[in-house]
Amino acid sequence: MDLTQLWSHGIAAMAPYVPGEQPQGEGWIKLNTNENPYPPSPKAVAAMAAAVHERMPLYPDPQSLELRRVLSERFDVPVEGTFVGNGSDEILAFAFRAFFDRDGELLFPDVTYSFYPVYARFWEIPFRTIPLREDYSIAIEDYAGKLAGIAIPNPNAPTAAPLSLERIEQLASEHPECVVLVDEAYVDFGADSAVTLIAKHPNVLVVQTLSKSWSLAGLRVGFALGHPTLISALERVRDSFNSYTLDRVAQVGATAALQDDPWFRETVGKIVATRERFVTGLKSLGFEVLPSAANFVFAAHPKLSSKELLEALRPHRILVRAFKGNRLERHARITIGTDAQMERVLEVLATL
Ligand SMILES: Cc1ncc(COP(=O)(O)O)c(C=O)c1O
Repeated sequence: MDLTQLWSHGIAAMAPYVPGEQPQGEGWIKLNTNENPYPPSPKAVAAMAAAVHERMPLYPDPQSLELRRVLSERFDVPVEGTFVGNGSDEILAFAFRAFFDRDGELLFPDVTYSFYPVYARFWEIPFRTIPLREDYSIAIEDYAGKLAGIAIPNPNAPTAAPLSLERIEQLASEHPECVVLVDEAYVDFGADSAVTLIAKHPNVLVVQTLSKSWSLAGLRVGFALGHPTLISALERVRDSFNSYTLDRVAQVGATAALQDDPWFRETVGKIVATRERFVTGLKSLGFEVLPSAANFVFAAHPKLSSKELLEALRPHRILVRAFKGNRLERHARITIGTDAQMERVLEVLATL
């Protein structure tokens, strides 16, 4: 018997998201999933080690109140305006369910985080993708009609292009009928956060993560900031699903990390400086590089497609990300690692 017949309706037809490769073994220069090359705050590591030893028989705080208090202070928003989840991916999935299953269409860019169409199909939300302009920018004038929602990453992925706060504010004020979800996974590397818009535009929901600028991809912690009424909708989804999305170690580690601002600034500063040097190096090799406000660059080799580039780098144990489809074939997405790693990449690229 074909046991796939036992699957629920719709599961066979699904096209799940495929995460970037996590290679086994040592010695890889891993620039394919936009992780941070530096370790997290030593204070976060110490807090997590202590948490492993204490109180593990008990469930964690389902409200994650301590962590949310720290978020509230850092971003100057009320505690009720904060939400935490198991990576921002989980929060995005909850938000799609909480806000976009309404009359009208959900809009997001055609070139963007590839999880968006997966969530939309999973929750059976009608959506339309809006083509980026010729220069890979998001033109907010194109986001028109009777909308159920708008989702945009700022900076966008995989292009790394930022959108100005003025444009996001315009989008929010022109569409009070729906939630404007701003996915700020990479905002700390060079864009302005829309958190400052929340007080004036209560339809703005900001989602951030500790996976990139905070060096904690392995911990799986993301957070959302928004009007308490929007946060209540996210809590309804979570509490219909899994009340304890953040374990004790994650809550404690994230809390301690967010309190170590000097560590955060130093790490982000190093990545931004390396990015600028790497972009100069790529350009001198003839690459076309889009301006980046993220911890990765979107770059096209003068001759090779991104797939060919990926295959040429792989034997050198260097991993980058290639994309399929319209307008994406030429550009590879290359995460910014340490200076030494990026110098090695440039060295190898020079030989191709
Ligand atoms: C645009 C964007 N949003 C969200 C995420 C999810 O991050 P996480 O689930 O690790 O918080 C990613 C991860 O690569 C991303 O690129």
